[in-house]
Amino acid sequence: MKRLGLWGLLGAALLGCWEPGDAVRCFDKQYEHKGRCCNRCQPGEKLVSECDGTEDSVCTHCESGHYQQGWTKERHCTPHAICEDNAGFILKTQGNATHNTVCQCQAGMHCSDTSCQTCVENQPCQHGFGFVEAKAVARMSSPCEPCAEGTFSNVSSKTEPCHPWTSCEEKGLVVKVKGTNTSDVICESGRRSSLSVLIPIMAVVVTCLVGIGIYCLVHTDPRRRVQKQVEAGKPIEIVEAQQPRSPVQKTLLGGQPVTQEDGKESRMSEQERL
Ligand SMILES: *[C@@H]1O[C@H](CO)[C@@H](O)[C@H](O)[C@H]1NC(C)=O
Ligand SMILES: *[C@@H]1O[C@H](CO)[C@@H](O)[C@H](O)[C@H]1NC(C)=O
Ligand SMILES: *[C@@H]1O[C@H](CO)[C@@H](O)[C@H](O)[C@H]1NC(C)=O
Repeated sequence: MKRLGLWGLLGAALLGCWEPGDAVRCFDKQYEHKGRCCNRCQPGEKLVSECDGTEDSVCTHCESGHYQQGWTKERHCTPHAICEDNAGFILKTQGNATHNTVCQCQAGMHCSDTSCQTCVENQPCQHGFGFVEAKAVARMSSPCEPCAEGTFSNVSSKTEPCHPWTSCEEKGLVVKVKGTNTSDVICESGRRSSLSVLIPIMAVVVTCLVGIGIYCLVHTDPRRRVQKQVEAGKPIEIVEAQQPRSPVQKTLLGGQPVTQEDGKESRMSEQERL
Protein backbone atom coordinates (compact mmCIF):
# COMPACT_ATOMS: atom_id res chain seq x y z
CA MET A 1 0.00 0.00 0.00
CA LYS A 2 2.73 2.37 1.02
CA ARG A 3 4.78 1.59 -2.08
CA LEU A 4 1.79 1.61 -4.36
CA GLY A 5 0.78 4.97 -2.94
CA LEU A 6 4.22 6.45 -3.47
CA TRP A 7 4.57 5.04 -6.96
CA GLY A 8 1.05 6.15 -7.73
CA LEU A 9 1.91 9.66 -6.59
CA LEU A 10 5.15 9.68 -8.55
CA GLY A 11 3.47 8.22 -11.58
CA ALA A 12 0.66 10.72 -11.46
CA ALA A 13 3.15 13.63 -11.06
CA LEU A 14 5.32 12.40 -13.91
CA LEU A 15 2.39 11.91 -16.22
CA GLY A 16 1.10 15.36 -15.40
CA CYS A 17 -2.32 14.07 -14.48
CA TRP A 18 -2.30 15.58 -10.97
CA GLU A 19 -5.60 17.13 -10.15
CA PRO A 20 -5.76 19.45 -7.11
CA GLY A 21 -9.20 18.10 -6.16
CA ASP A 22 -7.91 14.55 -5.64
CA ALA A 23 -7.57 13.11 -2.10
CA VAL A 24 -4.11 13.51 -0.62
CA ARG A 25 -2.34 10.16 -0.32
CA CYS A 26 -0.99 9.77 3.20
CA PHE A 27 1.09 7.18 5.04
CA ASP A 28 -0.59 4.40 7.00
CA LYS A 29 -0.18 6.09 10.38
CA GLN A 30 -1.49 9.35 8.97
CA TYR A 31 -4.82 10.63 7.90
CA GLU A 32 -5.87 13.36 5.50
CA HIS A 33 -7.20 16.57 6.92
CA LYS A 34 -7.89 19.69 4.82
CA GLY A 35 -5.44 18.63 2.13
CA ARG A 36 -2.74 17.72 4.60
CA CYS A 37 -1.46 14.48 6.05
CA CYS A 38 -1.82 14.53 9.84
CA ASN A 39 -0.34 11.90 12.14
CA ARG A 40 -2.71 9.47 13.78
CA CYS A 41 -2.62 8.91 17.54
CA GLN A 42 -0.89 5.74 18.75
CA PRO A 43 -2.63 2.94 20.64
CA GLY A 44 -3.64 4.03 24.13
CA GLU A 45 -4.18 7.61 23.03
CA LYS A 46 -6.90 9.73 21.47
CA LEU A 47 -6.86 12.84 19.29
CA VAL A 48 -7.13 16.29 20.86
CA SER A 49 -6.56 18.51 17.80
CA GLU A 50 -5.75 18.07 14.11
CA CYS A 51 -2.53 19.23 12.62
CA ASP A 52 -2.33 22.47 10.67
CA GLY A 53 0.38 24.35 8.78
CA THR A 54 2.62 24.67 11.81
CA GLU A 55 1.48 22.14 14.43
CA ASP A 56 1.51 18.33 14.48
CA SER A 57 -1.53 16.39 15.60
CA VAL A 58 -2.04 16.62 19.37
CA CYS A 59 -2.86 13.38 21.19
CA THR A 60 -3.52 12.48 24.82
CA HIS A 61 -3.73 9.28 26.86
CA CYS A 62 -7.06 7.56 27.15
CA GLU A 63 -8.84 8.40 30.38
CA SER A 64 -8.95 5.71 33.05
CA GLY A 65 -11.30 2.81 32.29
CA HIS A 66 -10.97 3.41 28.54
CA TYR A 67 -8.83 1.93 25.80
CA GLN A 68 -7.75 2.58 22.24
CA GLN A 69 -6.29 -0.37 20.41
CA GLY A 70 -5.07 0.99 17.03
CA TRP A 71 -3.68 4.10 15.32
CA THR A 72 -6.55 6.54 15.43
CA LYS A 73 -7.92 9.96 14.58
CA GLU A 74 -10.79 9.41 17.02
CA ARG A 75 -11.27 11.91 19.81
CA HIS A 76 -12.68 9.30 22.17
CA CYS A 77 -11.35 6.12 23.71
CA THR A 78 -13.72 3.20 24.19
CA PRO A 79 -14.83 2.32 27.72
CA HIS A 80 -13.73 -1.05 29.08
CA ALA A 81 -16.27 -3.85 29.09
CA ILE A 82 -17.93 -4.45 32.43
CA CYS A 83 -18.17 -8.01 33.62
CA GLU A 84 -21.80 -8.23 34.72
CA ASP A 85 -22.23 -10.45 37.71
CA ASN A 86 -25.94 -10.70 36.91
CA ALA A 87 -25.16 -12.24 33.51
CA GLY A 88 -22.84 -14.75 35.16
CA PHE A 89 -19.57 -13.07 34.21
CA ILE A 90 -16.38 -12.45 36.15
CA LEU A 91 -13.20 -10.61 35.19
CA LYS A 92 -10.66 -12.61 33.23
CA THR A 93 -8.09 -9.91 32.41
CA GLN A 94 -8.23 -6.28 33.48
CA GLY A 95 -8.22 -3.82 30.59
CA ASN A 96 -5.61 -1.09 30.13
CA ALA A 97 -5.18 1.87 27.77
CA THR A 98 -4.58 -0.42 24.79
CA HIS A 99 -6.70 -3.46 25.54
CA ASN A 100 -10.28 -4.04 26.54
CA THR A 101 -11.21 -5.83 29.73
CA VAL A 102 -11.92 -9.50 29.08
CA CYS A 103 -14.72 -11.21 30.95
CA GLN A 104 -15.44 -14.90 31.32
CA CYS A 105 -18.26 -16.97 32.70
CA GLN A 106 -18.11 -17.76 36.39
CA ALA A 107 -16.87 -21.17 37.48
CA GLY A 108 -19.50 -23.81 36.78
CA MET A 109 -21.05 -21.75 33.98
CA HIS A 110 -20.52 -21.43 30.23
CA CYS A 111 -21.51 -19.12 27.36
CA SER A 112 -25.13 -19.42 26.29
CA ASP A 113 -24.05 -19.14 22.64
CA THR A 114 -21.10 -18.17 20.45
CA SER A 115 -21.62 -14.43 20.98
CA CYS A 116 -21.51 -15.06 24.75
CA GLN A 117 -23.92 -12.32 25.77
CA THR A 118 -24.79 -14.26 28.90
CA CYS A 119 -23.66 -17.30 30.81
CA VAL A 120 -25.71 -20.34 31.76
CA GLU A 121 -25.08 -22.86 34.51
CA ASN A 122 -23.46 -26.17 33.59
CA GLN A 123 -25.93 -29.05 33.75
CA PRO A 124 -24.91 -32.52 34.91
CA CYS A 125 -23.55 -34.59 32.06
CA GLN A 126 -26.23 -37.16 31.25
CA HIS A 127 -25.79 -40.88 30.69
CA GLY A 128 -23.65 -41.33 27.59
CA PHE A 129 -21.97 -37.94 28.13
CA GLY A 130 -18.79 -37.22 30.08
CA PHE A 131 -17.32 -34.19 31.79
CA VAL A 132 -14.33 -32.65 29.95
CA GLU A 133 -12.07 -30.64 32.25
CA ALA A 134 -10.52 -28.51 29.49
CA LYS A 135 -13.95 -27.39 28.28
CA ALA A 136 -14.97 -26.54 31.84
CA VAL A 137 -11.85 -24.39 32.22
CA ALA A 138 -12.56 -22.57 28.93
CA ARG A 139 -16.15 -21.92 30.05
CA MET A 140 -17.14 -21.21 26.45
CA SER A 141 -19.49 -24.16 25.99
CA SER A 142 -20.99 -27.06 27.90
CA PRO A 143 -18.27 -29.19 29.50
CA CYS A 144 -20.20 -32.35 28.56
CA GLU A 145 -19.22 -34.35 25.49
CA PRO A 146 -20.70 -37.57 24.12
CA CYS A 147 -18.70 -40.60 25.17
CA ALA A 148 -16.50 -41.70 22.29
CA GLU A 149 -16.47 -45.31 21.07
CA GLY A 150 -14.73 -47.41 23.70
CA THR A 151 -15.87 -45.26 26.64
CA PHE A 152 -19.06 -44.98 28.67
CA SER A 153 -20.83 -42.98 31.37
CA ASN A 154 -23.65 -44.60 33.31
CA VAL A 155 -24.17 -41.69 35.71
CA SER A 156 -25.58 -38.16 35.58
CA SER A 157 -22.74 -36.08 37.00
CA LYS A 158 -21.11 -32.63 36.93
CA THR A 159 -17.63 -34.09 37.37
CA GLU A 160 -17.48 -37.64 36.00
CA PRO A 161 -15.72 -38.06 32.65
CA CYS A 162 -16.41 -40.94 30.30
CA HIS A 163 -14.58 -44.03 31.48
CA PRO A 164 -12.92 -46.53 29.18
CA TRP A 165 -14.55 -49.93 28.90
CA THR A 166 -13.07 -52.66 31.07
CA SER A 167 -10.55 -54.75 29.18
CA CYS A 168 -11.64 -58.35 29.60
CA GLU A 169 -8.43 -59.52 27.95
CA GLU A 170 -6.27 -57.83 30.60
CA LYS A 171 -8.21 -59.70 33.29
CA GLY A 172 -7.84 -62.97 31.43
CA LEU A 173 -11.56 -63.00 30.76
CA VAL A 174 -13.70 -62.91 27.65
CA VAL A 175 -16.40 -60.41 26.59
CA LYS A 176 -19.89 -61.55 27.52
CA VAL A 177 -21.81 -58.34 26.69
CA LYS A 178 -20.40 -55.57 24.50
CA GLY A 179 -20.07 -52.09 25.98
CA THR A 180 -22.15 -49.06 24.93
CA ASN A 181 -21.80 -45.32 25.56
CA THR A 182 -23.90 -45.83 28.72
CA SER A 183 -22.66 -49.20 29.98
CA ASP A 184 -19.41 -51.02 30.56
CA VAL A 185 -18.37 -54.22 28.89
CA ILE A 186 -19.40 -57.31 30.87
CA CYS A 187 -16.73 -59.97 31.10
CA GLU A 188 -17.05 -63.63 31.98
CA SER A 189 -14.51 -66.24 32.97
CA GLY A 190 -12.87 -67.95 30.02
CA ARG A 191 -14.70 -71.27 30.76
CA ARG A 192 -15.14 -71.90 27.10
CA SER A 193 -11.42 -71.77 26.48
CA SER A 194 -10.62 -74.13 29.39
CA LEU A 195 -13.45 -76.42 28.27
CA SER A 196 -12.17 -76.35 24.73
CA VAL A 197 -8.87 -77.68 26.09
CA LEU A 198 -10.42 -80.12 28.56
CA ILE A 199 -12.92 -81.71 26.19
CA PRO A 200 -10.36 -83.01 23.67
CA ILE A 201 -8.17 -84.28 26.51
CA MET A 202 -11.12 -86.05 28.06
CA ALA A 203 -12.09 -87.41 24.64
CA VAL A 204 -8.60 -88.78 24.13
CA VAL A 205 -8.54 -90.32 27.63
CA VAL A 206 -11.99 -91.88 27.18
CA THR A 207 -11.06 -93.21 23.73
CA CYS A 208 -7.89 -94.79 25.17
CA LEU A 209 -9.83 -96.38 28.02
CA VAL A 210 -12.44 -97.74 25.61
CA GLY A 211 -9.69 -99.00 23.32
CA ILE A 212 -7.94 -100.74 26.20
CA GLY A 213 -11.25 -102.21 27.28
CA ILE A 214 -11.99 -103.55 23.81
CA TYR A 215 -8.45 -104.97 23.52
CA CYS A 216 -8.81 -106.74 26.82
CA LEU A 217 -12.22 -108.19 25.82
CA VAL A 218 -10.90 -109.41 22.47
CA HIS A 219 -7.82 -111.03 23.96
CA THR A 220 -9.18 -112.56 27.17
CA ASP A 221 -12.84 -113.60 26.52
CA PRO A 222 -12.28 -116.15 23.72
CA ARG A 223 -10.09 -118.29 26.04
CA ARG A 224 -12.63 -118.06 28.84
CA ARG A 225 -15.46 -118.87 26.43
CA VAL A 226 -13.60 -121.85 24.96
CA GLN A 227 -12.78 -123.08 28.44
CA LYS A 228 -16.38 -122.66 29.57
CA GLN A 229 -17.72 -124.31 26.46
CA VAL A 230 -15.33 -127.19 26.97
CA GLU A 231 -16.16 -127.49 30.64
CA ALA A 232 -19.95 -127.01 30.59
CA GLY A 233 -21.30 -125.69 27.32
CA LYS A 234 -20.81 -128.66 24.99
CA PRO A 235 -22.36 -131.39 27.13
CA ILE A 236 -25.47 -129.19 27.64
CA GLU A 237 -25.69 -128.69 23.89
CA ILE A 238 -25.45 -132.44 23.31
CA VAL A 239 -28.09 -133.18 25.94
CA GLU A 240 -30.39 -130.52 24.53
CA ALA A 241 -29.89 -131.95 21.04
CA GLN A 242 -30.55 -135.51 22.16
CA GLN A 243 -33.55 -134.79 24.33
CA PRO A 244 -36.06 -133.93 21.53
CA ARG A 245 -34.88 -136.92 19.51
CA SER A 246 -34.76 -139.40 22.33
CA PRO A 247 -38.55 -139.75 22.98
CA VAL A 248 -39.24 -140.35 19.30
CA GLN A 249 -36.40 -142.76 19.04
CA LYS A 250 -37.44 -144.44 22.28
CA THR A 251 -41.02 -144.92 21.08
CA LEU A 252 -39.87 -146.10 17.70
CA LEU A 253 -37.34 -148.32 19.22
CA GLY A 254 -39.56 -149.53 22.06
CA GLY A 255 -42.73 -149.99 19.92
CA GLN A 256 -44.93 -149.64 22.99
CA PRO A 257 -48.69 -149.03 22.14
CA VAL A 258 -49.22 -145.61 23.88
CA THR A 259 -51.14 -143.78 21.15
CA GLN A 260 -54.61 -144.72 19.77
CA GLU A 261 -53.14 -145.48 16.39
CA ASP A 262 -50.70 -147.69 18.05
CA GLY A 263 -53.55 -149.39 19.86
CA LYS A 264 -55.63 -149.87 16.71
CA GLU A 265 -52.65 -151.21 14.94
CA SER A 266 -52.03 -153.49 17.84
CA ARG A 267 -55.74 -154.50 17.95
CA MET A 268 -55.74 -154.92 14.20
CA SER A 269 -52.68 -157.00 14.43
CA GLU A 270 -54.32 -159.00 17.26
CA GLN A 271 -57.56 -159.49 15.17
CA GLU A 272 -55.53 -160.43 12.17
CA ARG A 273 -53.65 -162.75 14.36
CA LEU A 274 -56.94 -164.26 15.60
C1 LIG B 1 -2.43 -4.26 28.33
O1 LIG B 1 -3.05 -5.51 28.38
C2 LIG B 1 -2.60 -6.41 27.38
C3 LIG B 1 -3.45 -7.62 27.46
O2 LIG B 1 -3.92 -7.87 28.72
C4 LIG B 1 -1.14 -6.72 27.59
O3 LIG B 1 -0.67 -7.61 26.59
C5 LIG B 1 -0.36 -5.41 27.53
O4 LIG B 1 1.00 -5.67 27.84
C6 LIG B 1 -0.90 -4.40 28.50
N1 LIG B 1 -0.26 -3.14 28.27
C7 LIG B 1 0.28 -2.48 29.26
C8 LIG B 1 0.91 -1.18 28.92
O5 LIG B 1 0.24 -2.89 30.43
C1 LIG C 1 -25.19 -43.75 22.46
O1 LIG C 1 -25.28 -44.81 21.53
C2 LIG C 1 -26.56 -44.94 20.93
C3 LIG C 1 -26.57 -46.20 20.08
O2 LIG C 1 -25.31 -46.51 19.60
C4 LIG C 1 -26.85 -43.68 20.12
O3 LIG C 1 -28.12 -43.77 19.53
C5 LIG C 1 -26.79 -42.50 21.04
O4 LIG C 1 -26.97 -41.31 20.30
C6 LIG C 1 -25.47 -42.44 21.76
N1 LIG C 1 -25.52 -41.37 22.75
C7 LIG C 1 -24.59 -40.46 22.84
C8 LIG C 1 -24.73 -39.52 23.93
O5 LIG C 1 -23.65 -40.41 22.05
C1 LIG D 1 -21.79 -48.00 36.45
O1 LIG D 1 -20.88 -48.93 35.92
C2 LIG D 1 -19.95 -49.44 36.86
C3 LIG D 1 -18.97 -50.33 36.14
O2 LIG D 1 -19.63 -51.26 35.32
C4 LIG D 1 -20.70 -50.18 37.96
O3 LIG D 1 -19.80 -50.65 38.92
C5 LIG D 1 -21.71 -49.25 38.61
O4 LIG D 1 -22.49 -49.95 39.53
C6 LIG D 1 -22.60 -48.62 37.54
N1 LIG D 1 -23.42 -47.60 38.17
C7 LIG D 1 -24.72 -47.46 37.88
C8 LIG D 1 -25.41 -46.37 38.59
O5 LIG D 1 -25.29 -48.17 37.05
